[in-house]
Amino acid sequence: MEKVTIKSEYIIYDSLSDLNIENQNLFQEAIKVRDTAYAPYSNFLVGTAILLENGEIISGSNQENAAYPSGLCAERVAIFYAAAKYPNVVIKKMVITAKSNNKKVDKPIAPCGSCRQSISEYEIKQMQDITLLFMGETGKIIESSSLKNLLPLSFDKKFL
Ligand code: THU
Repeated sequence: MEKVTIKSEYIIYDSLSDLNIENQNLFQEAIKVRDTAYAPYSNFLVGTAILLENGEIISGSNQENAAYPSGLCAERVAIFYAAAKYPNVVIKKMVITAKSNNKKVDKPIAPCGSCRQSISEYEIKQMQDITLLFMGETGKIIESSSLKNLLPLSFDKKFL
């Protein structure tokens, strides 16, 4: 028998003003696109901005559906679009922000499990880490230097 401990490292910032300019700009994009969320069912609006190695920023918001599972999170809207438009360009960073029309969102909102799996696929494909930063509407920001911190023991192509 073997007992294994998995270590996960991340950085916590107190506010947007503690981030470097590049990350602040990405959050400005994510905040802007958050208002394009189509979220009439959850009233939970998520915006994300992706920085590609070619300097382009791809943004996206969550898109809901009356048939609930047919909707899609902001992260997958953006990363699938980035991968479709620039299939061979490295994804460097992804920032995420969320707000709610029903309550205060002052804690960092981490990507859901399905989004982690999707982001992981591209991190493995490009053989380069993707930096993730996420926040609520206000409050602290979490930065992880790789998706791997958020998805230990992941399922990937090597099992197929
Ligand atoms: N949502 C995202 O867009 N990203 C996440 O990582 C978590 C959840 C969306 C899905 C749904 O439209 C709403 O937030 C409530 O779950």
